[in-house]
Amino acid sequence: MTKFFKNLYRLILIGSPLFMIVNYIRNFLPNYKTKKKSKKIEHFIYDKFESVNYNEKWFCNNLNYLTNNFKNTKNIKDVLEIGSYEGRSAIFFLKNFNYCNITCVDTWSGSDEHNIVDFNLIEKNFDLNTEFYQSNNHLTKHKMTSNEFFKQNNKYFDLIYIDGDHSSDQVKIDLINSWNSLKNGGFLVLDDYLWWYYKDLKKNPSTSINNFIKKNISNISKLTVWHQVIIQKN
Ligand SMILES: C[S@@+](CC[C@H](N)C(=O)[O-])C[C@H]1O[C@@H](n2cnc3c(N)ncnc32)[C@H](O)[C@@H]1O
Repeated sequence: MTKFFKNLYRLILIGSPLFMIVNYIRNFLPNYKTKKKSKKIEHFIYDKFESVNYNEKWFCNNLNYLTNNFKNTKNIKDVLEIGSYEGRSAIFFLKNFNYCNITCVDTWSGSDEHNIVDFNLIEKNFDLNTEFYQSNNHLTKHKMTSNEFFKQNNKYFDLIYIDGDHSSDQVKIDLINSWNSLKNGGFLVLDDYLWWYYKDLKKNPSTSINNFIKKNISNISKLTVWHQVIIQKN
């Protein structure tokens, strides 16, 4: 409960639009105390998973939220993921969207928040965890920055998940590039809307997410605000 009010306070401090704040409040009850439900889904999805630190299951907190929000979505075939780490989110998308194809982009060298992580091991775990999908061509791996990827990409996607470099400047660039590579009717899933790593609150992802949504609201048909923000393009 206190976490909810802290987030609310910070969203107000950074000057979030009222419709984002109201949307966040509306999602409190449906997502309150759903840890147990997410755990159940976690056991089902990750039967064998290699990890350097089993406490680093950031993505797993969102399993119930994502599963509920993408219950009746049948047409998601091509997914792009910016930021894959050991493969937890990629495996969720592959299993949730009936063996869609996923393009995973990661430098496997981390960013500000990963100062003591051995990325050789992280990449090795990614390869082990996704071996089955890489070998049957359901997962394509691109070891490069998101900027490099978008420079050479000419494909359009049904869903793009942004979870790479979390500085507001890079989130802004990833948002613009992703929007341009998203099909009409496609979804953006934006991780870490309520992640307050940088003391200067405006340097966190929320600032760029707010600005992007404000600017593009007329082209957005569905918006769900929680720890991850889901946007559907008109
Ligand atoms: C929080 S982790 C991703 C977690 C993953 N989605 C999961 O569910 O476990 C962020 C990842 O983004 C990658 N990254 C950081 N900066 C990047 C950039 N500019 N382009 C692509 N990937 C980047 C890091 O190497 C790291 O693996």
